[in-house]
Amino acid sequence: MNASNSVVDLEIVKLRMEQLSSEIEKHNRSYYELDAPTISDELYDSLFQELVRLEEKYPQLKKLSSPTQRVGGEVKSELVKVKHSQPMLSIHTETDYTEQGAKDFDSRIRRELELESASNSIEYNCELKFDGLAVNIRYEDGIMVLASTRGDGYVGEDVTANVRTIRSLPLQVEGLPKVFEVRGEALMHKTDFKKLNEEQASLGEKLFANARNAAAGCLRQLDSRVTAKRRLSFYAYGLGEVSEMPVSSQSELLDYLARKGFPVTDLRQVVQGPEQLEAFHEKVAHLREELDFDIDGVVYKVNDFALQRQLGFVSREPRWACAHKYPPQEAQTRVLDVDVQVGRTGKLTPVARLEPVFVGGTTISNVSLHNEDFVKELGLLIGDTVVVHRAGDVIPEIVKVLPELRPSTVRPFVMPEFCPICGSHAYKEEGEKDRRCTGGLFCSAQRKQAILHFVSRLAMGIDGVGEKLVDQLVTTGLIKTVADIYRLKLDDLVQLERMGEKSAKNLISAIEASKSTTLEKFLYALGIREVGEATARSLAQNFGSLDVLEKVTKEDLLSVNDIGDVVADSILHFFAEPENRQVIEELKTLGVHWNEQVGSSKPDGLLKDKTWVLTGTLPTLSRNEASDLIRSLGGKVSSSVSKKTDYVLAGENAGSKLEKAQSLGITILDEGQFKQLLQKEEM
Ligand code: IVH
Repeated sequence: MNASNSVVDLEIVKLRMEQLSSEIEKHNRSYYELDAPTISDELYDSLFQELVRLEEKYPQLKKLSSPTQRVGGEVKSELVKVKHSQPMLSIHTETDYTEQGAKDFDSRIRRELELESASNSIEYNCELKFDGLAVNIRYEDGIMVLASTRGDGYVGEDVTANVRTIRSLPLQVEGLPKVFEVRGEALMHKTDFKKLNEEQASLGEKLFANARNAAAGCLRQLDSRVTAKRRLSFYAYGLGEVSEMPVSSQSELLDYLARKGFPVTDLRQVVQGPEQLEAFHEKVAHLREELDFDIDGVVYKVNDFALQRQLGFVSREPRWACAHKYPPQEAQTRVLDVDVQVGRTGKLTPVARLEPVFVGGTTISNVSLHNEDFVKELGLLIGDTVVVHRAGDVIPEIVKVLPELRPSTVRPFVMPEFCPICGSHAYKEEGEKDRRCTGGLFCSAQRKQAILHFVSRLAMGIDGVGEKLVDQLVTTGLIKTVADIYRLKLDDLVQLERMGEKSAKNLISAIEASKSTTLEKFLYALGIREVGEATARSLAQNFGSLDVLEKVTKEDLLSVNDIGDVVADSILHFFAEPENRQVIEELKTLGVHWNEQVGSSKPDGLLKDKTWVLTGTLPTLSRNEASDLIRSLGGKVSSSVSKKTDYVLAGENAGSKLEKAQSLGITILDEGQFKQLLQKEEM
């Protein structure tokens, strides 16, 4: 481009700069808003650099709304105070977390509007209550000129340079009223917050406690280049001063803002009446965890602006809006003590006993500390004040210790080297995090847990056996192994404290009923380490009978989908243990039974009891898939060819197994023939 400042040349440069700006902004939006970049980073950078060069060369053409303004620049010594032309109000909070909160708001509005009859229902706009920081952004002639924090509601701070770095926010908007202030929440997405904290950690810098603090730090940064590198987001929800009101209701306003290119969430809804308010509150409660930003409730607003004006304000709060919160997901409390629990597999788990605290909708008084390393990493001492987090149905956790509130009476937690229940040595293997009691079934804690697991709903499903009863049964010596459950007599039970004749009878029938079970439930009930419900099902489906399972090789196990080294070893160890086999035999003798074929979908299929060997690489099926198919049709898969082999399924590069099969005259199939056989099977 020729640098001579002829009017024509300048006009061309200006056009090119506008073209570049609009192209870059388009990509900014698709990248940051829709999370779907449409061009490569290299191409984006080259467009950006071209614009930077032109702006350097022709500073007179540089615009305040240029995308180059988003990278930050000036470093301030302090944030300048700005007076809001319209105060930034707060919002009334309904503290009742239940549906009563929605009812109270609706009744209040009807009372104020003197609409006693329920038939005159009012339209509300339901929104999210974003947990970030309120920001006012002023556009003059469609160009962003000022952004400010809420401050005390009347005077805030100028954070324009920082807000410009939010790429989902337009710097210039076509067709806005001359003066247009949009209000909304600046926040940091959870994913961006996580990345930022990872970066901070790798630089050895201080971590932010939560996304809101990180967002506040970014928004009030003195060096906007720092903010540009982190990623703030913004969601619009209202207006400040406007020279002209473009719409007449809150829902229209949000649609209008979205059309003008402002970020607005889709999670909003126009509703009528308290039930629908509550339905929104409830719906969002379930979505809360999945959202990529924190919210602490929902906001209800009377939709019609004319009605809003009629309702007006009480002190600094509008009467036409309210926040309906969710129970807090974090709370502070004190750790009174740390106990050690012994689990079914002997694992010692430190458990913090808390001063009861209401969090995530329930009162929590115990929380697992997992293992001794976790306690160390937290830096927890007994007596400390901690932050407990519980989101949705997730298990509560201690997320932070507050050492600044530490009293002088604290003492450290020491993990015992002996089982606190049976006194056996508690051993931690090299590289393991968990310490385990070596007492096995000698340890009454392990015995109790094994019994509780055995009777649980997804295992043998014996109703009415709770922790207290198991405690009694084990301490009185009535039960030593799970097999003893089936030796219990009515007379034994009625002698127990707090056990009536009726409950005892019910229990005996529940025990009797549980004898008829399925192989998968029985396998799960045995409590083999690493064998959960899904693995038990796979084992039952693939091997079909307990006799087969007791003789499987590691290779057989590994050929089952989802079974890896650790699980296979654990299964082998379990069946190698004579005591375990003994208990299984006793259970069978005492009448526990199942249909050996349960789980195999076509037990009497063509492949029933046929032994297969796989060799070589099949064109489309993996080894596991082929093995699963064979087993699901009643066949067995073996690892070596012998006279007992019925079929060999051979693929490419089959080696000695194929030769041996040929020499023994065994039927050899390729994948195509195998599939034909399966089709016959399906007919
Ligand atoms: S409207 C006149 N809508 O809540 C009402 N506020 O106390 C003005 N907030 O810090 C606010 N989400 O930033 C409104 N959808 C929403 C909101 C929302 C979050 C925050 C707001 C302010 C506080 C109001």
